[in-house]
Amino acid sequence: MIYLPDKTNQHNFLKTCCSIKDKLGFDITIRAYQVEDYPRLIDMYDRFEPKRIAMGLPHSDKKLRDNWIDSIVKSFFNTVAIYQNNIIGHAAIDILRNKSSPEYMIFLDQDFRNRGIGTSQTMIIKKICEELGCKQIWVAITCHSILGIKVFKKSGFKFTGPIGPEREMVLKLKPKSKI
Ligand SMILES: CC(C)(COP(=O)(O)OP(=O)(O)OC[C@H]1O[C@@H](n2cnc3c(N)ncnc32)[C@H](O)[C@@H]1OP(=O)(O)O)[C@@H](O)C(=O)NCCC(=O)NCCS
Repeated sequence: MIYLPDKTNQHNFLKTCCSIKDKLGFDITIRAYQVEDYPRLIDMYDRFEPKRIAMGLPHSDKKLRDNWIDSIVKSFFNTVAIYQNNIIGHAAIDILRNKSSPEYMIFLDQDFRNRGIGTSQTMIIKKICEELGCKQIWVAITCHSILGIKVFKKSGFKFTGPIGPEREMVLKLKPKSKI
């Protein structure tokens, strides 16, 4: 069951919550980030390997990494994927500052990649953005991120902008009735 933002109250998207089974049959909860998650989110990024895999993120330097996490949880809408009380995935969308064309980013613990969790988190974020009336979502990606490109392409993202080692992908959303 997915609880999405109420059409008359955009802050209800904080109730976003669903359970999925990953490709190995593990039960994973995906829900909106809460302040109490902060220490476990820091833990996830401390364990995360390899560091700097996506556009230089997450930073290998602990202080830079923690500052980056702080700025994302403060300024983006965040969801977390949880397995047995550990945060194993983090997706963030910049809808609080840029509702028209928010930036998206997603990071999964190395032991949980390629199990369908990134696809599920991305589809939830896509649905939230559709409900909020966003025009598009964009993501910056390094061109050797095979899993990332696969997930974004199958979610409807298309490459845009100059060709190079770092690319931008954009997902155009269908216009919705007023919220
Ligand atoms: C990118 C990331 C979020 C993807 O999430 P994920 O849960 O690992 O991906 P999923 O399991 O949902 O999907 C991976 C897809 O790639 C496919 N795939 C796996 N290996 C592949 C290969 N060598 N070639 C082509 N496709 C491949 C899988 O089959 C799957 O597609 P399917 O479900 O249609 O079969 C995750 O791997 C991650 O955190 N990577 C590091 C950080 C990053 O690169 N973030 C993206 C930029 S912000």
